[in-house]
Amino acid sequence: LVNAAIVTCGGLCPGLNNVIRELVHSLHNLYGAQNVWGITGGYHGFHNPEYAPVLLTNEMVENIHHEGGTILRTSRGGFEIDAIVSFLRSKSISQLYIIGGDGTHRGAYKIHEACMEAGLNIAVAGIPKTIDNDIDYIDRSFGFVSAVEAAQASIRSAKTEAMCTVPNAVGIIKLMGRSAGYLATFAALGSGDVDLVLVPEVPIVLDGPGGVLPFLRQRVKEQKFAVVVVAEGAGEELLEATNVVDRGGNRLLPPIGEYMRDRIKEYFVEHGEEATMKYIDPSYTVRSVPANGADSLYCMELAQNAVHGAMAGYTGFSVGLVNNNVVYLPIPQLVASSPRQMSPCGTTWERVLAMTGQPNTTP
Ligand code: F6P
Repeated sequence: LVNAAIVTCGGLCPGLNNVIRELVHSLHNLYGAQNVWGITGGYHGFHNPEYAPVLLTNEMVENIHHEGGTILRTSRGGFEIDAIVSFLRSKSISQLYIIGGDGTHRGAYKIHEACMEAGLNIAVAGIPKTIDNDIDYIDRSFGFVSAVEAAQASIRSAKTEAMCTVPNAVGIIKLMGRSAGYLATFAALGSGDVDLVLVPEVPIVLDGPGGVLPFLRQRVKEQKFAVVVVAEGAGEELLEATNVVDRGGNRLLPPIGEYMRDRIKEYFVEHGEEATMKYIDPSYTVRSVPANGADSLYCMELAQNAVHGAMAGYTGFSVGLVNNNVVYLPIPQLVASSPRQMSPCGTTWERVLAMTGQPNTTP
């Protein structure tokens, strides 16, 4: 008898509901599962009585893929291994599907190990999720393409604002991505509307030769406006050099988007010019959109293969696209390294460097 449980953890990402829907459909329709439990509120839902688990039927999930977010809701933290194992035992769970990023996957593997130790025969399957696209090995994480598309809509708005405003308008869009610049880079390059993109993988040179400020001033001179994308993890070295402290004397790092907005404005003023700054932070809008067509299909493939893998008896595994094939990956390998960053080689990178106006110093 198949008794399954599904949980979503971490930040939102387009496609979560698609994955849930396909897991439920596959478990019921292909394998006649007895119970499919939805654990609510992330790992907290295994033990916090405020987030009671729900039994998921085909009907309940039929239309959820039209909406962003996750019907199961999500959270960070709440990982209590003993409580999780005792829940799994109490409900006679035989398959556990965990949808989340690297931290969530580390937890998934601990659950797998704890179940083995406790003699529980439970297939633990991970489905990697993050708009940051920073999970190693896999071509791309589900929802990434939809997030790029949503980010491009904000870039278009910023460009319209900047184009239609005088004097010297600079549109700045801050995008998520943690320590990786994938979302910022793909959105910026794909939009064709961006003059400058700042990512964590390239240190920011503010002034002097190759500096982003003179580059931007020149762009504004040429076209009367400019559009800048800033990834949230960019410019760490710049921020480290700032000396902002809170009342308790603790160092505070200013957010890079706002920091760059202020530096750009100041630079124009220092040169006797005005600048009109238009700052947009669409972070939560970007990650809460529904999955687009390509991601919807991808989510279906991932979910179906996760179910096939669990039914085949695999455990401690995750599913992902590698060289365009959906494959099974051992969780320890998937999360062994620190989050992936864009490689400083290749065409994408060269185009990023060209856009930032910085010299290509890569081999
Ligand atoms: O890892 C996913 C992500 O969207 C990151 O890009 C971002 O840094 C983080 O989550 C923010 O999440 P929250 O504000 O929900 O903690």
